[in-house]
Amino acid sequence: MTTVDTASAAYLDARLSVDERVADLLGRMTLPEKVGQMMQFDAREELEHIVLERHAGSILHTSPEKVLRAAELTSQTRLRIPLLVAEDCIHGHSFWEGATIFPTQLGMAASWDADLIASVAKATAAEVAATGIHWTFSPVLCIARDLRWGRVGETFGEDPFLIGELASAMVRGYQGDGLDDPDAILATAKHFAGYSETQGGRDASEADISRRKLRSWFLPPFERVAREGCRTFMLGYQTTDGVPITVNDWLLSDVLRGEWGYTGTLITDWDNVGRMVWEQKVQPDYASAAAAAVKAGNDMVMTTPGFFAGALEAVERGMLAEADIDQAVSRILSLKFRFGLFENPRLPDRERIATIIAQGAHADLNLEVARRSLVLLRNDGTLPLASTTRRIAVVGPLADDAQTQLGDWAGSSGQVDWMPDGHPRAQITTVLDGLRELSGGTVEHARGAGILDLTDDPAGVFPDGQPRPPIVAPQEPDAAEIAEAVALAERSDVVVAVVGDRIELVGEGRSTATLDLIGGQRALLDALAATGTPLVVVLMASKPLILPESVREASVVWVANPGMQGGRAIAELLLGEIEPAGRLPISFARHAGQQPTYYNQIRGQHGDRYADLTQQPAFAFGDGLSYTTVEYGDAEVLTPVVSAGETVRARVTLRNTGERPAHEIVQVYVRDTVTSVSWADKELKTYRHVDLAAGASATVEIDLPASDCTIVDAAGRRIVEPGEFELLIGPSSRDEVLRAVSFEIR
Ligand code: NOJ
Repeated sequence: MTTVDTASAAYLDARLSVDERVADLLGRMTLPEKVGQMMQFDAREELEHIVLERHAGSILHTSPEKVLRAAELTSQTRLRIPLLVAEDCIHGHSFWEGATIFPTQLGMAASWDADLIASVAKATAAEVAATGIHWTFSPVLCIARDLRWGRVGETFGEDPFLIGELASAMVRGYQGDGLDDPDAILATAKHFAGYSETQGGRDASEADISRRKLRSWFLPPFERVAREGCRTFMLGYQTTDGVPITVNDWLLSDVLRGEWGYTGTLITDWDNVGRMVWEQKVQPDYASAAAAAVKAGNDMVMTTPGFFAGALEAVERGMLAEADIDQAVSRILSLKFRFGLFENPRLPDRERIATIIAQGAHADLNLEVARRSLVLLRNDGTLPLASTTRRIAVVGPLADDAQTQLGDWAGSSGQVDWMPDGHPRAQITTVLDGLRELSGGTVEHARGAGILDLTDDPAGVFPDGQPRPPIVAPQEPDAAEIAEAVALAERSDVVVAVVGDRIELVGEGRSTATLDLIGGQRALLDALAATGTPLVVVLMASKPLILPESVREASVVWVANPGMQGGRAIAELLLGEIEPAGRLPISFARHAGQQPTYYNQIRGQHGDRYADLTQQPAFAFGDGLSYTTVEYGDAEVLTPVVSAGETVRARVTLRNTGERPAHEIVQVYVRDTVTSVSWADKELKTYRHVDLAAGASATVEIDLPASDCTIVDAAGRRIVEPGEFELLIGPSSRDEVLRAVSFEIR
């Protein structure tokens, strides 16, 4: 084949409109070139094959060397169409050695701070863009409900409103000033939609979810970012009503592209098209699967090598029209033209890499978001540690485990094979490091317990050749290790026990049957509690876990996976150098059998407890303490009657009654007293951050459009139903701490 004459090809003329350029280029492409343009390949495969023989449109999981090599190869192709380079940059530039790794999404969500999260995404985008990557598969907008699911830590938690706020901010941060911004990248809203509504927490199982339930809670965050211009959407693995999302015409065509007017790019999740054949068995062969996926409006097909032959065969057999492929290819090409890739393929830039990655300002931002992500769940008075604390025992398997502290999608977490040792140890401050650095006293460490051992899954690899996660065997408590920790506790003024989960219990295909601490950790906590030395449990857990009864009165801080600066932020918090400010974005269960424990449950059941246990969570959505006390006065509604077009206005006065400053998050929920169909008993509608000096008071004004007080009716329409409502204002979602005032919508 001959290469195109650069001087005369209209599509290479940047003065022409994008539509003209797309039409010209499409007119020159062969069918195999078009099919290849729809495909995203794993760059760990052979690049020559991907680019020269398969005419790839995009690659993922790559290194700068490979990006450069791939660009060199595309310049040898007939049409020289640049590649879109994608990566999972989930909480920082995950797999770039030495990049800034922030707390996980769930950790960041505990800050309830959209602007802070936008800054994190902006910093990440700058680091990512410098390395020649154009597109991140972030953020996750799934609602986490069953805590056994392995991917809870990748979400913003359980509340659709909070998810919408934070996801919108993250998309804003990544996409910066738009496609011309050299420091911006494309964001992806994933996993569209309902993926997290698992059966028993089992990953990617059938999402048994009605259209009304989707419209009520699962779709709103996606709708928001679709309307705000999130450039790409990723379709989840799951099926609903028997239909894989990849071919769910109602969701993709009627709702996303139809009702919401979405014009961005749709990408499947990993081998969704192949999975319809080998896993879900709803398509007999790759030709049928490819035809169904293209007709449903997918643009980019992630890592289904069989799509190439499948799509060609589908056209040959008359199952698919070339015009259908043209539509998808046009969308991909227009994104590439608009992004300016034909003029500047945005290759890795050594100078920017040297100055932007891990720059001091990003480390400072990382420390700030880590601080804000810490949630003080219980305080028996041990915290902050008294200045007279001389001897600190730092115990537990996660006290000095730098890579685990980073969580999933980072370094050695397993998604890529080029960072077996993870991120540079010197860049990470563990809890032990942090306390050693910041406390004036003696800091000694004992591990005290192991967590797990691994064995290979005898079932071997998955049918698509992907490895199966290893099987976890909890480690037995080790009497000698526990004795060493106990001896240390006994000669110390305080014990800081850092316990939680490890990467092998987290992520895709790694849901857990239990929510208890695994291995020797429970026995370790029991033994430490029995010493009588004041005990602080630092729960470094990707998702809510259950602590043993022995520590039911001890101080507890949940830190999620707090990123590279996490240990420093935790040390600052324990030592009282900063104030606790995080609030739970997700409820913590008392027992795995309580699942689900999310706060915004639908009214109506017989009774409100299990025969053998309360239904109340251990810690509820919105919970989080300060080192001071904040009292809420009675709430006052200034607009007792409004129309649906007006704004409900209310106020509440807070007073810091303690001796330290507070960073309070005033949460505002709405209860619709009587609804025509069953509905959540209360829903978060807005919140305000308030800083209060010791002894200070502040009056917080709340404005809430009455049009936000909606339900979704039986026909799936989102409506405001006139009648009585309650505004519930307070420091958490728990009824007992909320101040209620009534208003009416007429
Ligand atoms: C599968 C995961 O579900 C998705 O979140 C991720 O972006 C892709 N793999 C690419 O790695």
